[in-house]
Amino acid sequence: MTCEICGGTQWRPVETNGVRRVERCVCWQESVTAQMLGGARVPPRYAKCTLENFLVYPNERLHAALAQARRFADAFPAVQKGLCLIGPPGIGKTHIAVSVLRRVILERGARGLFYDVRDLLRVIRSTYNPVVRTAEMDILRPVMDAELLVLDDLGAEKPSEWVEETMNLIVNTRYNERRPTIFTTNYEDLPDETALDSLRVRVGFRLHSRLHEMCEFLEYDGGDYRMMPANGGPDDLATLWKRHKGRRTLPARTHGPARAQIKEPSPSRELQWPGGKAGRS
Ligand SMILES: Nc1ncnc2c1ncn2[C@@H]1O[C@H](COP(=O)(O)OP(=O)(O)OP(=O)(O)O)[C@@H](O)[C@H]1O
Ligand SMILES: [Mg+2]
Ligand SMILES: [Zn+2]
Repeated sequence: MTCEICGGTQWRPVETNGVRRVERCVCWQESVTAQMLGGARVPPRYAKCTLENFLVYPNERLHAALAQARRFADAFPAVQKGLCLIGPPGIGKTHIAVSVLRRVILERGARGLFYDVRDLLRVIRSTYNPVVRTAEMDILRPVMDAELLVLDDLGAEKPSEWVEETMNLIVNTRYNERRPTIFTTNYEDLPDETALDSLRVRVGFRLHSRLHEMCEFLEYDGGDYRMMPANGGPDDLATLWKRHKGRRTLPARTHGPARAQIKEPSPSRELQWPGGKAGRS
């Protein structure tokens, strides 16, 4: 639809003290923002997620997580730490992460990026070429440089040395450059840190310790929205939550071996940030 103010030129004439000139039309800013949102890779399923359309019910930790997410979005880019949303499936972790991401893009014009961790690793793997490293840098550079990055479903990928090193490189680089990251994960910070389903075992002890330095941990439980009846509401979520409370509902994918023996490129040699800024600590 052509803009009625500027007729599509994205410039509009203005006159001050008899002097005529042109300035950017409002539709220009709108198109820039739309492009930035389009480039953020938010999956269509989450394209309409906001903190405002997130249903709440009496659930202290969910309220606390939501309040912290709001504070983060309000303060951005003046934030000290990112966020790490932890909990079982369907409780809106990705919804909250995307809402914050969309908001800082829309309101602050931030360069934001969303990646499901498995997708990211798959893309890096597929572009892996020991001779020409440009392709993987084309993928990695925006990930490292994004003003806000969402890494969704951390720990869902099969752990391996390559996965661990690659994630360490990304996270460490962002940490060193003081760029905030929002993580979501199903894996809890269990007291028994050797448990196969603990976050520490799933992501490795180095990444786990970095996460604690760079993120507020927002661990909560709740009703699985995916199980909610059509036309359901907050009361149904509260009922679903009560029903499964106390029963741990980790996704089936977690019950495999904690460490897979996959043959993968060795990132310590091949995957380094140009200019010696490798994210290794
Ligand atoms: N409280 C809520 N209010 C409104 N929509 C919600 C709420 N919780 C979840 N949803 C919606 O339900 C769907 C599933 O939520 P989401 O993907 O954010 O869950 P998740 O916690 O990330 O689950 P998983 O661990 O499986 O990734 C999404 O479409 C999301 O928008
Ligand atoms: Mg999710
Ligand atoms: Zn216009």
